[in-house]
Amino acid sequence: MLLDVRDLRVEFRTRDGVAHAVNGVSYAVDAGETLAVLGESGSGKSVTAQAVMGILDTPPGRITGGQVLFQGRDLLTLKEEERRKVRGAGLAMIFQDALSALNPVLPVGDQLGEMFTVHRGMSKKEARVRAVELMDRVRIPAAAQRVRDYPHQFSGGMRQRIMIAMALALEPALIIADEPTTALDVTVQAQVMDLLAELRREYRMGLILITHDLGVVADVADRIAVMYAGRIVESAPVHDIYKAPAHPYTRGLLDSIPRLDHKGRELYAIKGLPPDLAAVPPGCAFHPRCPMARDVCRTDVPPLHAVADGRGSACHFWRECLRGDER
Ligand SMILES: Nc1ncnc2c1ncn2[C@@H]1O[C@H](COP(=O)(O)OP(=O)(O)OP(=O)(O)O)[C@@H](O)[C@H]1O
Ligand code: SF4
Ligand SMILES: [Mg+2]
Repeated sequence: MLLDVRDLRVEFRTRDGVAHAVNGVSYAVDAGETLAVLGESGSGKSVTAQAVMGILDTPPGRITGGQVLFQGRDLLTLKEEERRKVRGAGLAMIFQDALSALNPVLPVGDQLGEMFTVHRGMSKKEARVRAVELMDRVRIPAAAQRVRDYPHQFSGGMRQRIMIAMALALEPALIIADEPTTALDVTVQAQVMDLLAELRREYRMGLILITHDLGVVADVADRIAVMYAGRIVESAPVHDIYKAPAHPYTRGLLDSIPRLDHKGRELYAIKGLPPDLAAVPPGCAFHPRCPMARDVCRTDVPPLHAVADGRGSACHFWRECLRGDER
């Protein structure tokens, strides 16, 4: 297994108390595989990724438990220098906002080139050649000329391609893309997603794709992990989830995707809001919003039940949900 995150826990200490942002998350990604991590805003998707990448804001954040096994080694127990080496060579991240992730006063070619001069000891000239190659690879038109341009001279979609090029530069084994297309319009979103999927295949990388849009993951992901209030509530191969969700929250997310064949019908929305992570409801955290909730849901935290091989659901009534019983 390329990345194996086990029972990861992250807390934030704030004036309002302790927010359990990541509350025992486990997920795994193999080489060449794409895992989509899904969930509403505030469910802990980014904080999990930050803990894996070693870029968590500490304080206020703190990893309080778990393991992050990357190529078999626990990044959380390695010495700082060793850990930086492993991450630097093997892991890369793509952020939502390319404009703030890139340096505004440095031509993009220089920023790409730095990856090679700093990390690979190449000469400036060699690095420039590699930068142009990479820009070509992510299909930036006229790369040889545009290599001297500054970030603001590119469109949003092209900037996101440059971010992808930066992430690819050192040929990482795993890329974590945190909402890589949210800031783009729909057509450009699709192009960037296609490019990412193609590069993932070509380089046989693992990819973790964080998104709150179930609509975009169907074509690119192998597996889905659905997060709610700092936990994984359902984890399954992508086709299984689309066929029949085993958790009412996943069902709610699926029902709220706009579908062409349902044109004119009012779109379903999960009622209510996600909980404050410093005051998560007892029992199943989803119970105040769940159309299937019963008494036991208000008192007992549902464990992740094995629904099938490679599939889990943290719902007391996953069988009913899977069968699509009346709510
Ligand atoms: N710097 C911080 N200080 C305090 N609490 C934080 C901080 N960053 C994150 N949190 C807590 O962690 C929770 C999860 O945040 P996270 O950024 O992982 O959400 P997310 O699932 O990525 O949401 P989004 O879809 O909006 O990006 C937040 O709701 C908040 O309670
Ligand atoms: S455990 Fe109960 S409240 Fe939670 S999702 Fe299942 S049915 Fe709903
Ligand atoms: Mg986020």
